[in-house]
Amino acid sequence: MPRYFNWQYILILDLAYTIEYNYTFIIAITGGYLTEYISSRSTSDYGSIVKKDVQYVMQTYTRQPMALESGSGSVVFDTTGKEYIDCVAGIAVNNVGHCHPLVVKAIQQQAERLIHVSNLYYTEVQANLAEQLVSLSGMSRAFFCNSGTEAVEAAMKLARITTKKTDFVAADHSFHGRTMGALSVTHKEMYRSPFEPLVRDVTFVSYNDAEAIASAITKDTAAVILEPIQGEGGINVPSDDYLKAVREICDDTSTLLIFDEVQTGFGRTGKWFCKEHFGVEPDIMTMAKALGGGFPMGAIVASDDITFGKSEHGSTFGGDPLACAASLGAIEAIREEKLVERSREMGEYFLKRLETLTRDDVVEVRGRGLMIGVELNTKCADIVDYAREHGVLLNCTSDSVIRIAPPLVITKEQIDMVVDVIEQA
Ligand SMILES: Cc1ncc(COP(=O)(O)O)c(C=O)c1O
Repeated sequence: MPRYFNWQYILILDLAYTIEYNYTFIIAITGGYLTEYISSRSTSDYGSIVKKDVQYVMQTYTRQPMALESGSGSVVFDTTGKEYIDCVAGIAVNNVGHCHPLVVKAIQQQAERLIHVSNLYYTEVQANLAEQLVSLSGMSRAFFCNSGTEAVEAAMKLARITTKKTDFVAADHSFHGRTMGALSVTHKEMYRSPFEPLVRDVTFVSYNDAEAIASAITKDTAAVILEPIQGEGGINVPSDDYLKAVREICDDTSTLLIFDEVQTGFGRTGKWFCKEHFGVEPDIMTMAKALGGGFPMGAIVASDDITFGKSEHGSTFGGDPLACAASLGAIEAIREEKLVERSREMGEYFLKRLETLTRDDVVEVRGRGLMIGVELNTKCADIVDYAREHGVLLNCTSDSVIRIAPPLVITKEQIDMVVDVIEQA
């Protein structure tokens, strides 16, 4: 049972809320800004936030016991003012850091001109972003949506309509999203089974095994979908020749190849896109997460003549002016601050430092750029708790892999602090 549903916990929250309420009330008589400051900074704020959340928000997430209030670069602050080095970064979203001035400025300026217009009309900002994405990815055209899962839906629909075939091959331990199509190519049984039947025509094969893909492809296979490095599945880096071999198999069988770069894109792995590490071009590529600099956004890009025709797909909000402006701001920040190179350098430093860990539960340290996994021979939830208490935010994926995906602006000093905390945890 989730801890927030524990009755003792609710009682404690009630008490905290009552204390805060009375405290705020007494201070309120003194009036002025002090009231607002104290009540917004008080530790019991957290209790009232949780109370409200538990009452009004569907409890789908296992949240950490803290409420975040602000952030800058690679640090965030909770409602008590406590500072954390953020090695989660919204799970590979805040690549340019929290509240990057170029993203903030782009959003502010765009918000004063036009926040949303329908895709019934052209906008310069959307055309500009499409041009940027095409140039960065080496693909031909973009379609805009609002999240990673929507990008995967778009990629699957595009593969079906292009090939007039129905089936997909996906990998064990894959994660592609929670909507029905994306969930169909997501491996984890726990996510899938309550919602079946999904798209039925999906075959899962071992990751990093090109022969398995060759065996799974049939005359009905529209596409193979792969993360070039698996994120949610435990930061699994394939061997150097895997994706090349998959590309050849797809070419030989007229099967499309989709790379899901939702987590690996925009400098995360030390290249603009992870495919560059392997020298392999997909037919369709998904992106989201860091695309909007923190603003919700998704997109696919596709090569040559692979494209949706009129009315074959659509999205009310996809590529709206505010999202596109935020994304252009984020891309500018990555370029100006050379964050792709920085990701590579800091990633190498981070990996080297992690390799010096003397903990006897470490099985392997792996990753590319600042997408790093520390696999343990035990569950990592306790380490996440310890780290949080000591000012570092970490995430645990696949139960026993500490996922480290900080903003690409993280410094060596911060990396040293993170490694020290993991060592001591
Ligand atoms: C590789 C990959 N694809 C798709 C998704 C789904 O993205 P979203 O949560 O934005 O729908 C994720 C999310 O973690 C992901 O890592």
